[in-house]
Formats: sequence, structure tokens, C-alpha cells
Amino acid sequence: MAANILDGKAIAAKVREQVRQEVEELKKKGVHPGLAVILVGENPASQVYVRNKEKACEDVGIKSIGHRLPASISQEELLSLIRQLNQDPQVHGILVQLPLPDHIDQKAVIDTIAPEKDVDGFGATNMGNILIGDYSKAFLPCTPYGCMVLLEEAGIDPAGKKAVVVGRSNIVGKPVAVLLLNKNATVTICHSKTPDLAAETRQGDILIVAVGRPEMITGDMIKEGAVVIDVGINRLPDGRLVGDVHFDSAKEKASWITPVPGGVGPMTVAMLMKNALEAAKRTVK
Ligand code: GUN
Repeated sequence: MAANILDGKAIAAKVREQVRQEVEELKKKGVHPGLAVILVGENPASQVYVRNKEKACEDVGIKSIGHRLPASISQEELLSLIRQLNQDPQVHGILVQLPLPDHIDQKAVIDTIAPEKDVDGFGATNMGNILIGDYSKAFLPCTPYGCMVLLEEAGIDPAGKKAVVVGRSNIVGKPVAVLLLNKNATVTICHSKTPDLAAETRQGDILIVAVGRPEMITGDMIKEGAVVIDVGINRLPDGRLVGDVHFDSAKEKASWITPVPGGVGPMTVAMLMKNALEAAKRTVK
């Protein structure tokens, strides 16, 4: 089988257009959605991600409020800025780009963001609400949310299917596993200590890979007809960008597959826009 391409770029553009229209409606009610974007230090990849997020804000009409801080900033100064943004009614969402410099406790930073402004969905309150399946006050973390929208767009209902997630990060693996479970999939989470990875991945009707290892999942590890979502984005020494899935062999087995680039990446940014809009909408009584 040669797979259909799950075109994240096109689907993300559709999501962003919907957000743009809703932002316009909200502005008519006197609410102008605002997203604070905090970047600490000069990590080149983070600089690119933050620029993309700010561009997306501009595109959909959300006001982005950028805070570029030196890597030398103290933890207390950063927490103090977040507390100030928590109180600012013009700021509906707060995003702190990760990773942070080593001297800053990432968990303390995430825990300081008010849950109602935690548009990245990384905080413990948010994660807890997702775990119990109460999405009414939650924000779905942007990358897992993007994966679920991609499945929906491909017409795949996870209910009754075997979903295999490779990777157990707090940002992608764990939350996407929970979102799939909440949609009634039977979910297996694999990680570096899983003894026979291929035996697990070959069971997956849905296979989501988020490990950060270039092309580690090859076609022989994929079930015929599986839907493959590749969250990885890795730059090879020759400059090529590749995912965690070996695309050419995987596309011969999968029914649907996301490309890299142009798959999950644009969805993450689009879902952030949707969450920022949602945060602003929730302030309207
Ligand atoms: N670093 C890598 N991915 C993300 C993300 O989705 N959000 C933030 N804030 N930082 C990240």
C-alpha cells in the first residue's frame, strides 16, 4: 500500500483561518486576544519556533506580547514577570518557550503560569484535568492536540483501535496517549526500556512517534495499513530535515502518514492559536 499524505500544512492553514474568523468576531465584542511569548536566552531552534508563533499570531489577529530575556536572568525575575502577566487582563495566554537555561527550574516556571492562561497545557492542573477527561477548563497541549486533529481530518476514529505511542515525554508522549485513551483507543506507550519495540509498533493501527531519533522507525516496524504520525524533527549532518520515522519505507506500509517537514510542526502552531483564542473566549461571561 502506498500511503496517503496527511498534509499538516494544509490542515493547519484551515485551523488558522477558522481562528482568524473567530478572533474577528471576538474583537467585535471588545475582546482582543493577547498571547505573551517569553523566550529566555538565544537557543537558535527556540528563536525560530518563537518567531513562527509570533508570525502566526499576527496572521490570525492575536496580539503577541514578546518578552526576550537574557540567559542570565534569575529564576525569581522570571517568576515575577509571569506573576505580573497572570494579573494582566490584556494577556489571555502565556507561553514560555522551552528549554530554559539550566539554572532555572522548569517545573517552578510552568507551575507559576495561571491555569486559565496555560495555553501550552503543560501545567499540573491542566494535565490533571486532561487525565480525568474534563476538557471544559483545560487546554490540550498543542502537539498532542494537533495529532488528534490530524487523525480526525483523515477520518480516523481511535475508538476500538490499537494505538501505539513511541516516547513518553510530558510534552507529547504522555498527553497524546491520554487523549487517545479518552477517545477509546487501546493504548501502548513504548520508551527506551521497551524490550522489543518492533513487536509493539507492529500492533499499532495508529502509530505516533515522538522520540527525537532520526528515522528510527522503519517500514518493517509498521503494521500494514497503519496511520503513522511522526512528531520528530531532526536535522541530519548533511542538512536534511527528517522525522523519527523512515518516510520512504514507512509510506509503503501505512495508509496515512505525515511528512516532515509539513506534518505535525505546523499543527502545533495552529493549535496554539486555537488555545490562545479559547483562553480569550473564556474570559467573556
Ligand atoms: N519546546 C518544544 N516544544 C515546545 C512547545 O510546544 N511549547 C513550548 N513552550 N516550548 C517548547
